[in-house]
Amino acid sequence: MNKIVVFASGSGSNFEAIAKAADTGKITIEITGLITNNSKAGALVRAEAYNIPSYIIHPFDFKNQTEYEASLLKLIDELSPDVIALAGYLRKIPSAIIKSYKNRILNIHPSLLPAYGGKGFYGMHVHEAVLENGESESGCSVHIVTEEYDEGPVLAFEKVPVYKKDTPQSLAKRVLEKEHELYPRIIQEHLNKLSES
Ligand code: GRF
Repeated sequence: MNKIVVFASGSGSNFEAIAKAADTGKITIEITGLITNNSKAGALVRAEAYNIPSYIIHPFDFKNQTEYEASLLKLIDELSPDVIALAGYLRKIPSAIIKSYKNRILNIHPSLLPAYGGKGFYGMHVHEAVLENGESESGCSVHIVTEEYDEGPVLAFEKVPVYKKDTPQSLAKRVLEKEHELYPRIIQEHLNKLSES
């Protein structure tokens, strides 16, 4: 069975959507670990509920950046993922890891990339900007992670309407529902493509 590792810093609802899809046999994936930089991440509680091993790893716990990167890479290698899925992970992935797992790191972003992507566009900031600009639609995108924030090739996206009465929270909720359906499916499709190549 294909193995994946998920990185999450926050609530972890996307992590749970992947875990649930795996648990119910919708996708044939084993999540070998959850990695977070945040000891308070909701994702940790969700991992426990699904019996998925979790690891808290933060640069501050290491003597220097080199040691941090080496430990993170060692941990990932031990978990031997075919694909790494970033799901609301708020730290930059070190370039050594991006190189080692080229084309194998995916991310989900709550906008129709390339719009509202890049530095500063995360969480509610994305939805606030979409509303401020009076957009009539938004959505979410799954893309391959490269060295530049949110710039890797987009594998798939889903659109949602934006309503005049929307708040950043109501729009976030509508987008998140699409994310939960899109991300597990695209992870599985990407794994299938990798195993065919
Ligand atoms: C999602 O909106 C995702 O697109 C973005 O971060 C958020 C994570 O939400 N990258 P959750 O922690 O999965 O609930």
